[in-house]
Amino acid sequence: MGRLLNRMIRYILAKLDKNDLEQELIEGALGGQLVSEAIVPLARRAAAEGIVLLKNNNVLPIQSTDNAAVFGRTAINYFAVGYGSGGNVQKPYVINIVDGLIENGVSVNRELLDAYTQWTSKSKNVPDEGFWGHWPMNFPEMPLNEQLVRKAAAQSDLALVIIGRAAGEDRENKLKQGSYYLTDAERRMLNLVTAEFRRVAVVMDCGNVIDMGWTADYGDKLGAIVYAWQGGMEGGNALADVLTGSVNPCGKLSDTIAVSYEALPSAANFGKKEFNNYAEDIYVGYRYFETFASDEVLYPFGFGLSYTSFEIQASGTVSGTKVEVSVIVQNTGKLAGKEVAQVYVSLPQGVLGKPEKVLAAFGKTEELQPGETQELNLSFDLCDFASYDDSGITGHKSAYLLEKGQYRIYVGSDVRAAREILSHTLDETLVTRQRSEVMAVKPEAVFQRLVNRGGKAVYEDVPIATTDLKNIILQNLPQKTSFTGDTGLKLLDVKNGTCTMEQFVAQLRPDELDDLCHGEGKMSSKLGTPGNAGALGGVTKSLREKGIPPAITADGPAGIRLKRTCSLLPCGTALACTFDTELVAQVYAAVAEEMKHYGVHMLLAPGLNIHRDPLCGRNFEYFSEDPLLSGKMAAAVVGGLQKAGLSACPKHFACNNQETNRNKNDSRVSERALREIYLKGFEIMVKESAPHAVMTSYNKINGVWSHYNYELATMVLRGEWGFEGLAITDWWMQKALSPEFPSLENDACRVRAQVDVLMPGGDGPFGDTKVGRKLLDTYGKPEGITLGEMQRTAANVLRHVLLSAAMGKTEA
Ligand code: BGC
Repeated sequence: MGRLLNRMIRYILAKLDKNDLEQELIEGALGGQLVSEAIVPLARRAAAEGIVLLKNNNVLPIQSTDNAAVFGRTAINYFAVGYGSGGNVQKPYVINIVDGLIENGVSVNRELLDAYTQWTSKSKNVPDEGFWGHWPMNFPEMPLNEQLVRKAAAQSDLALVIIGRAAGEDRENKLKQGSYYLTDAERRMLNLVTAEFRRVAVVMDCGNVIDMGWTADYGDKLGAIVYAWQGGMEGGNALADVLTGSVNPCGKLSDTIAVSYEALPSAANFGKKEFNNYAEDIYVGYRYFETFASDEVLYPFGFGLSYTSFEIQASGTVSGTKVEVSVIVQNTGKLAGKEVAQVYVSLPQGVLGKPEKVLAAFGKTEELQPGETQELNLSFDLCDFASYDDSGITGHKSAYLLEKGQYRIYVGSDVRAAREILSHTLDETLVTRQRSEVMAVKPEAVFQRLVNRGGKAVYEDVPIATTDLKNIILQNLPQKTSFTGDTGLKLLDVKNGTCTMEQFVAQLRPDELDDLCHGEGKMSSKLGTPGNAGALGGVTKSLREKGIPPAITADGPAGIRLKRTCSLLPCGTALACTFDTELVAQVYAAVAEEMKHYGVHMLLAPGLNIHRDPLCGRNFEYFSEDPLLSGKMAAAVVGGLQKAGLSACPKHFACNNQETNRNKNDSRVSERALREIYLKGFEIMVKESAPHAVMTSYNKINGVWSHYNYELATMVLRGEWGFEGLAITDWWMQKALSPEFPSLENDACRVRAQVDVLMPGGDGPFGDTKVGRKLLDTYGKPEGITLGEMQRTAANVLRHVLLSAAMGKTEA
């Protein structure tokens, strides 16, 4: 009892400690200078190019002679990003929507603005930013009366109605007014404004997709719909750029917008506390809608309008399994603009059943002048879209295959508009890669999954696990190098080639090996700039004496989260909607300069979990419902950071698709859906950009926590994909025994799985204690952790440190 009480007290104290950090970060926001102004135009461009124009009946762009009446308090109390580790950046400033409009020359209805300014500054209306896990999802609207709106309509040419939503880590969006649904006050605002104004544009300042079904109620009275996402510190400027047409809208939806929440394939199996059956299987987002429910879509995946028009013509060839597509994009309208060409592939149904279309490649044009054309050459290998047979129904269990039949290639400006340009027949089924079964559903957890049988949605039992993992692990135990004791070698000697990694590691005592597989202990490590997320590598004096420097980590996807002023970037979804990997790489190359300035070596970004359901509280950090787009965007972020000499740590590997009970929840998902959807983005990113590190997720996958998951971290990540970097936990981990080796606990299972470092270090709920370290408990015992395994993890950590900018310090 006493121990329990003690633990509870420690837990609460630790929690307060983290909240103190959050509080300081929030309080310290909006001040200080940026390290380099060079990032500003990039952040602005990325925010602008991610904005998606969903509808426009000649309402936009705002003309220079127009006066705009701006409704909605979010125009002032702008949500620049969501909350939590992926949002709480100490930003230098935020350009809100009204300031953005005014500073960019839009004449704004001042009387209306005054009314909003006065109302929002009253103490009872000042936005309450809440605290960790209890942040606002919206700010209550200013009540409007007919008179005010009528007067504004008499004074102004058009109305902009801003709807704002925020989400955050550690909790979900809610299927309630003020979160997924509009509030009564927002509906009233829309009713009044559409009744009085002829030209009305609604602007969605939201990090994730919310209900848009209400738009139908207004028909043509709602002339324009803009999904602006959350644009970071430059958000207001970026929105003004798009609304005035100085940037012609060119963002495309990275998620389908469905007619209703209930229409979503995940709706029946999302947000449950203990486990969620991914019954929709591979039919996530547009893969579901285009195959089974095309009527239930409001705006299709990839959709986005422009103020000009484009014609897309394409032709292609297939040779073997390689597809080359030439796309000619012509600007057929009157304004300059950019277009995104999207290539989709439709695979033959075969015996496995397939989605109607799958995104296979995309490319964005330069800005095209009216009449101008550009050719985009897009290519891909059909093998990269091979289906995975997890049941053996094709006769090729655990293999990726291209089933015989017709392959159709489509090109267009969204998944719906894409037209068939060629078809190619494979006479024989081709096994493209033979793999072994991993992470299959446990027999006791079997459920029914969605399968396409000739266009019909059918539910069948998901295949269950058949492997003997214990045996696989034992057969693949690494060789040890005999312990030599300190021979005076330094890590720099490995870098300089005067000794091997094995020789260096052979000097390390078991307790030093143990230290290497833990972060230093706490967030805001004293070894780095205040507000960092923790340190790893040279975390003790004896390790530092061997020339191992500490590598400093910091969040996160929307900018560096420190107790220092750093740029606040557009949210991940906004970046994905740019469909511009080069631009995204440039943004993160600029972030790398800020990291260098503050001595941060590893950015805990990007987040690339799949948007399985719009209620996921962290969707704003992530990119898309599609694994190719997610993987390419993530590779761009990693590439941008790493070319500049810093390290990226993409996360959360894998299936962190909800925040409810995120540390304990079990994502139950077929091996096919894992491989074709949830691991696929990570696979693309790892193969294209070789990240220096990867962070595992909090949740379980088919009963096994990711931080103990040998199949995930050793067999798939390293074995199949050739990852040579460092795997770290998400912050803290759950205590558990290994199912295969019941004597192995906590750290020992983790190291056996090759999830190398527990972050931020201790095993207490907030990493502030070393109690319960279990690595060495079974060392030297039957089936216990081996020296070879500890050395293997140490080498993973040290190889990372050698690549890390932290190493520069040692050389100096
Ligand atoms: C989040 C991670 C984050 C880490 C460090 C965790 O709560 O899930 O995404 O990088 O904290 O702040």
